[in-house]
This record gives sequence, C-alpha cells and structure tokens, in this order.
Amino acid sequence: MRTIDWVGGAVEIIDQTILPERLEVRRLTTVAELVEAVRTLAVRGAPALGVAGAMGVALAAREHSPGPGRDAAVREIGAARPTAVNLAAGVRRAAARLTDGPDAVLAEALAVRDEEIASSAAMAARGADLVSEWCGPAPRLLTHCNTGALAAVTGGTALAVVTELHRRGALGGVVASETRPLLQGARLTAWELARAGVPYRVAVDAAGPYLVARGEVDAVVVGADRICANGDVVNKIGTYAHALGAARAGIPFLVVAPESTVDSTTASGADVPIEDRDPAEVLGYRGAVTAPDGAAAVNPAFDVTPADLVTAIVTDRRVIGPGTPVIGPGPAHETP
Ligand code: MRU
Repeated sequence: MRTIDWVGGAVEIIDQTILPERLEVRRLTTVAELVEAVRTLAVRGAPALGVAGAMGVALAAREHSPGPGRDAAVREIGAARPTAVNLAAGVRRAAARLTDGPDAVLAEALAVRDEEIASSAAMAARGADLVSEWCGPAPRLLTHCNTGALAAVTGGTALAVVTELHRRGALGGVVASETRPLLQGARLTAWELARAGVPYRVAVDAAGPYLVARGEVDAVVVGADRICANGDVVNKIGTYAHALGAARAGIPFLVVAPESTVDSTTASGADVPIEDRDPAEVLGYRGAVTAPDGAAAVNPAFDVTPADLVTAIVTDRRVIGPGTPVIGPGPAHETP
C-alpha cells in the first residue's frame, strides 16, 4: 500500500492524523484540500511531501487555466510547510512542466513518486550494510519521529533501515522515541513496526540520551528534512538531543535520507526556515488540555544537528562522511 498516490484523477493519501486508531484513505481532489492535508500533517515526512508538492501542481494544472490564479495556487502549495526541502523542490519540478500541459505535469509528479520508491529501497540496503558493519550482528537502535513508508511512498528512510535489518535477522532491538508534540514516533513508527512484525519499545523523547548513556543503544538512526551544503542536518525537533547523547557516549549517529533531501543551495542549518507551529499543539493533545489556562508555549517543529555530530549520511546514491563533503561525492565514500 502506498502512503500517497495518484488515483483516478486525484491524490489519495493515508490520513496520518487518525493513525493508529484507524487506517483511512483520504481523497484530495483540489489544491485547497491538498494544502490543508499538508498543513495538518495528514500527509507528512520529507519524501512524501515532495510527492505531495508535485501532485498538488498536477491538481492545479487541472483546476486552473494558465494565469495568476494558477500561479498563486502553485505558490501556496510550495509554501504550505517551509522546512522540508522536498516540498518546494517537488513543486518546482512539476511546475517547470506547466507550459507543456496537465499531462506533462502529471508525468513529472509520477516520476517524483517513482524516484522516491526506488531511493527508499536503495537507502534501506546501504544503511543496513553500514549499521551491521559498525555495530555487529544484533545492533540495538534508537530512532526518532516517523521515517517509514508513511513518511515516503513505500519503504521510507531510517525506518526502512531498521525493517531491513529485521528482515535480515540482524536487528537487536529498536526504541522509537515518541516525538512530542504530535507523537509521530509513538503513533506512526510504532504502528509501522507492529505491522512489519518488528519488536519495539516506545520511550519518551528525553529518555533517548539516557538510554544511550546507560549502554542500551548501539546507534541512533534518523531521517532528515533538509541536509545543508555544510552537512548540517535539519530534522524533527528532538533530533539534536539524540545526536548530543550519541556523541557523548561515542556511538554512531546515522542520518538516512534521499538525495532529494540534500539542499546544496542552503549553506548551513542557520539558513533554513524552521517551522514554528501552533502553540496549542504543546499545551494539549486531541482535546485533552495538559497545561494551565492561559499558558504560553513555543513550538519549533524541527531542529538543526550540526555536521560535526553526524557520523555519516546515507543517501540512495552514496555515503557522506566522515570528512566527505555534501557537495560532490568524495571518492573514498562514493558507492555505485
Ligand atoms: O513534521 P513531520 O512529521 O513532517 O516531520 C518529519 C520528520 O522530521 C522526518 O524525520 C523527516 O521528514 C524524515 S522522513 C523520511
């Protein structure tokens, strides 16, 4: 089953706001519906957002004739969330075909989808090889947020490495950190691991660095929303703390992301627009209030892990680091 796809003239997504309670497919037939689905995280995760962006332009090409209305719709899709580079890149790629007509735009969107499917498989194999090489036959892993099929189309990034290791009989265990405030780890990663038959434990985010310090984790494996030219990694809030914990304990911190998440035009993490979401997400959850009336909150959805805390970045085409620049694969680490 695909997290996002083009079916009968519309975009179909697995609605991630209602998992793990129910698995429901939602049909998006207009740009407005797609933008709302992106903003509310019904569809989320960098690779899936790239596909959503491109398919959104395919909807715009059907909904509008050429002109300011269509241009505004395309801009609105690209701006629906600012941090994951894939969204705007997917929009740009599909929009470049607008002059060739709606079918050409759709063909480009389907190509974005197919490339993400292929890169997930490549990353899973390469990442699993690397973790086994570093950590031996039964590594115990910690992962953050959701980086599985739900964040892509099929497969995923970091979580695809975890499930690939399990498939090979080479996984010693996995801890999914819950990922406050929207619980992508507790709700979505746990749901995916259970469906794949992978034994797992959920931990509160703050337990991650302590579990590492206590010697219960052999490597931290996460995804990325944007990889900057200097190797800084922007990912779900909480990632930086896991990276600090890993560095302090001297265990590997591995980032798994497709080349489509590498943004060589952004120099460093300081240049990335970090999405600040509604404070209400911090003050309560699905109607349950968790802070006093009138409490203020701050809600950055992502953080920046500086390049020097990252042991390596696995993409669908190469392994970056240590000491390999993001721009231009280093010969020592490039793999065919
Ligand atoms: O806010 P989200 O749920 O879209 O954030 C997702 C993440 O931070 C993921 O770790 C990242 O997109 C990598 S997904 C393969």
